[in-house]
Amino acid sequence: MAKNVLVTGGAGFIGSNFVRYLLETEPQVQVFTLDLLTYAGSRENLKDLPDPARHTFIKGDICDASLLSGIFNQYEIDTVVHFAAESHVDRSITGPEAFVRTNVNGTFELLQAARKAWLHEKPPLDEPVRFHHVSTDEVFGSLGPGDPPFTETTPYSPRSPYSASKAASDHLVRAYFHTYHLPVTISNCSNNYGPYQFPEKLIPLIIFNALNGKDLPVYGDGQQVRDWLYVADHCEAIWQVVKRGKTGETYNIGGGNQPTNLEIVQTLCAILDELRPNSPHRPHAGLIRFVADRPGHDRRYAMNIGKIERELGWRPKENLASGLRKTVQWYLEHTGWIESIRQGSDLTGWMEKNYANRGGNA
Ligand code: NAD
Ligand code: TYD
Repeated sequence: MAKNVLVTGGAGFIGSNFVRYLLETEPQVQVFTLDLLTYAGSRENLKDLPDPARHTFIKGDICDASLLSGIFNQYEIDTVVHFAAESHVDRSITGPEAFVRTNVNGTFELLQAARKAWLHEKPPLDEPVRFHHVSTDEVFGSLGPGDPPFTETTPYSPRSPYSASKAASDHLVRAYFHTYHLPVTISNCSNNYGPYQFPEKLIPLIIFNALNGKDLPVYGDGQQVRDWLYVADHCEAIWQVVKRGKTGETYNIGGGNQPTNLEIVQTLCAILDELRPNSPHRPHAGLIRFVADRPGHDRRYAMNIGKIERELGWRPKENLASGLRKTVQWYLEHTGWIESIRQGSDLTGWMEKNYANRGGNA
């Protein structure tokens, strides 16, 4: 049974939802968040935690071997849930270096630290240990319209610096299982959405811009397809894999839906029209602008989640319509959060550059 859980990247979008989930569902667990607080991470995401006495925040870099070694020893870490990463495809196109550093080198350092603490140093921990690596469906590449969804045995074919760096990290994690018998699990998940998502990603960006009467930028023809999963469902799936998944195994996680990007944007506009009937920007879909496409833009992702359903009995609780509505409501109730995140990061400058390059002005 997990006692001391190290959550890397716990001040980011999914990581902070996961920290909350753990504190709410596992009363015996101590949670240690390690996060560098890059532009994408914020202490704002960890405010008002349930039972905060069981949570410790450590600001630091997963590439820092001596810091990692100290954390494993001092806190007797028995479980790692590894979220920390550079995670935005568009930023990986303009600045790939940080992606290789954090996603590849950082994962390597974390594996080394776990190996040293769990397999080399005496005495061994009484409890079983687990290194869980959180990864993405993007490692599998892009599907054509009639192709079947990705399974756990789909060959890797990453096509952006982001997905290539995540693929490299997945391979390292598997290598540590086969070579050193480090007890690892991996999950590859589709696009997440929900509370605390950094507002440069599609769904929070569209909500924020629509509320403020700004352009809603849709890349290319907007017919790209993603499989969207509500973040709370992802957190639950990860914890099931940590607790009950078989070491050395990979589990695909997804929401089982395949809307186009344009459909997502139109749905968000319709929800906002309904929830903000007096908005001067209604109908919000009038703000949609088609802008230059992302280079190498993957056309379609879809996940086959049969394995995790069969073996661990997990399936998403939220459907896309209910999840999107909940998400819009959350952002409407947390405009202060969006403002403080925008002010505390490089978001405005980065967005101006990104969208000017695409012929838009988001
Ligand atoms: P995010 O960008 O919101 O958060 C990443 C966090 O990692 C931030 O808090 C950041 O400060 C921290 N971080 C970055 N570099 C670090 C370093 N060197 N040392 C310590 N901390 C560092 O990302 P997210 O969307 O929450 O994604 C979390 C994980 O889930 C990533 O590994 C990502 O690849 C994976 N994933 C994300 C999605 C998605 O849709 N967002 C889908 C599947 C998988
Ligand atoms: P994003 O949230 O960046 O996630 P990912 O690239 O990891 O899938 O983007 C989701 C989809 O939305 C992706 O196909 C790119 C597209 N997109 C837009 O059309 N406009 C935007 O302004 C952004 C940020 C993304």
